Amino acid sequence: MGRRAVVTGGASGIGAACAERLRADGVEVVTADIAAGADQRLDVRDPESVTGLFDRIGPVDILINSAGVVGPSAPLVEVDLDDWRRTFAINTEGTFLTCKTFAPAMCERGWGRIVNLASIAAKDGNPLQSAYSASKAAVIALTKSLGKELATTGVLVNAIAPAAVASPMNADTDPEILERSQALTPMRRMGRPEEIAELVSWLSSSAVSFSTGAVYDASGGRASY
Ligand SMILES: NC(=O)c1ccc[n+]([C@@H]2O[C@H](COP(=O)([O-])OP(=O)(O)OC[C@H]3O[C@@H](n4cnc5c(N)ncnc54)[C@H](O)[C@@H]3O)[C@@H](O)[C@H]2O)c1
Repeated sequence: MGRRAVVTGGASGIGAACAERLRADGVEVVTADIAAGADQRLDVRDPESVTGLFDRIGPVDILINSAGVVGPSAPLVEVDLDDWRRTFAINTEGTFLTCKTFAPAMCERGWGRIVNLASIAAKDGNPLQSAYSASKAAVIALTKSLGKELATTGVLVNAIAPAAVASPMNADTDPEILERSQALTPMRRMGRPEEIAELVSWLSSSAVSFSTGAVYDASGGRASY
């Protein structure tokens, strides 16, 4: 039976690589993004935009939550509340809204895979990235909660925590933050989007069957727990 996936943030970087990798696996993929270039327009912050997407494309078997922003690069005491809220609205509430909208039909059909893009920042708490780090820590906790809630439904919910990946997201990241990240990474390099997509491909398949609410590292050896 052919599977269908929706990939948020699918117009760029890791999301685009996931779409390509899943298509190579034989999955029918719909990319959804606020930016041009995706199959469907989506603003993950907006509940009506998310339910509108569901109404247009119908149930899917696989949900990849890759839409995200790095948010403000500044000491916490200098972060504007609006920038903090915007980071949470996209990274955390966006993931909440897509899970809430797409998971019920997966449960009804008795099979589903949800993969949320978190970050090593969620575990480490990157200096100068408090909003990003906290918003992604919330994505990890959401993944653990939902994984447990759906554990007997056939729907598995897992997260990936990459270290810095060479994607358009990092075009605007403070060079000091990127240097720090590379210095902390034993492999001494950034990840590539297709390396994350490889893990997403496995987490989206029937090959994964006894893992849910789990966090998978893709960090060049940086993660220590
Ligand atoms: N690149 C990294 O170093 C890195 C590391 C760890 C985790 N991640 C996470 O991986 C995911 C993908 O990152 P990436 O590197 O591909 O970034 P990217 O900037 O290349 O892609 C992110 C995509 O999300 C989309 N997006 C932003 N706001 C949106 C909204 N409101 N609604 C819908 N789409 C929206 C953007 O238009 C873009 O296409 C993100 O969640 C990011 O936090 C990235």
